[in-house]
Amino acid sequence: MSWFSNRLAEISALQAYVKPESSVGALKLDANENLAVDKGFLDRITSQALVSIDFREYPIEQLEEIYDKVGIFLSLDKKYIGVGNGSDQIIEALMSTIARGKRATIFVPTFSYFMNRCDLHDVKVKAIPLDKHDNSLSRSDFIQAANASDVVYICSPNNPTGNQFDSNLVSDIIESLKNKLVLLDEAYVEFARYSLASHVRKYNNLVVLRTLSKAFGLAGARVGYMISNEELAETFRSIIQSPYPINSFSIKVASLMLSNGRYILDTVETIKTERDRVYKELAEIEGLNVYKSDANFIFFESFDSYNKIKQQLARKNIQVKMFGDMESYEGCMRVTIGTPEMNNMFLESVRAAFS
Ligand SMILES: Cc1ncc(COP(=O)(O)O)c(C=O)c1O
Repeated sequence: MSWFSNRLAEISALQAYVKPESSVGALKLDANENLAVDKGFLDRITSQALVSIDFREYPIEQLEEIYDKVGIFLSLDKKYIGVGNGSDQIIEALMSTIARGKRATIFVPTFSYFMNRCDLHDVKVKAIPLDKHDNSLSRSDFIQAANASDVVYICSPNNPTGNQFDSNLVSDIIESLKNKLVLLDEAYVEFARYSLASHVRKYNNLVVLRTLSKAFGLAGARVGYMISNEELAETFRSIIQSPYPINSFSIKVASLMLSNGRYILDTVETIKTERDRVYKELAEIEGLNVYKSDANFIFFESFDSYNKIKQQLARKNIQVKMFGDMESYEGCMRVTIGTPEMNNMFLESVRAAFS
């Protein structure tokens, strides 16, 4: 066998990332998108973007514009920013270059794509389980493992559990691991209690990952960004990242959405209010263990009611992320918070499983 056949055999034996299912006519509450963004509003933005771009040209101006718009949105100089084709692609670019062949520490459960990329790029992973009682993290266990590794991945709020740790704990981890690369994934931060993005000014070891796929309602556009110290951001933009990582249409749509931050933050408020209501109503159902969330989704255990709930949701064509048993959690599901009507449909189906 040739070397590349061997390599292909090795790669094809790795675990694939499990994408959300395709969904003709389904109520999609399985991918943590922002379904409270009005489709008519989005259509007006995309029409405006379409007439302003010229596909014959490379997206040079648009790239400059997105750095400006992200910088204004964050109140941070654009020299700290890099962009990518979704934050997935930024993770991929960093893992395949800087972190290739190194060792990573994560806690579990967490965003599975990160682990997939580690597998692909020969990064050995040490996983510290969260305390199932309240999804908390043992500082000492994590720091001890991290000290023996090179890269640390912290998802804040965490997907799928939904929680953020105390901000002092995360700051302390970044401070204690100054010679490790810390990737802080803030994909859901607009729904959360705090962001540590401004720490990039103080800590050279920190990269904050963000996306427009969640709060900004642009999962299909594939636009993400990272915030890091100036040197890494510059090297990322000029050497690590490909020259034109996002197409001109998506960048233009993203820039226009960032200019409509007020509207987005209104939808975020609606979702946060709904998240608290859905949490309360789910928690009232005996037989479920529901976790508090700082994101736009709720994670819960359903134990031996898992299949009954699954059937009820399927009857109404409602998709949620079904994990089943995972780590020490039993019969787990994760539901995206949508509009009040969508959430009511979901709650009705869950209740129906217990009636
Ligand atoms: C924690 C986390 N990070 C990153 C991503 C990927 O986002 P993007 O659509 O920007 O690639 C997701 C998507 O589910 C996520 O949950």
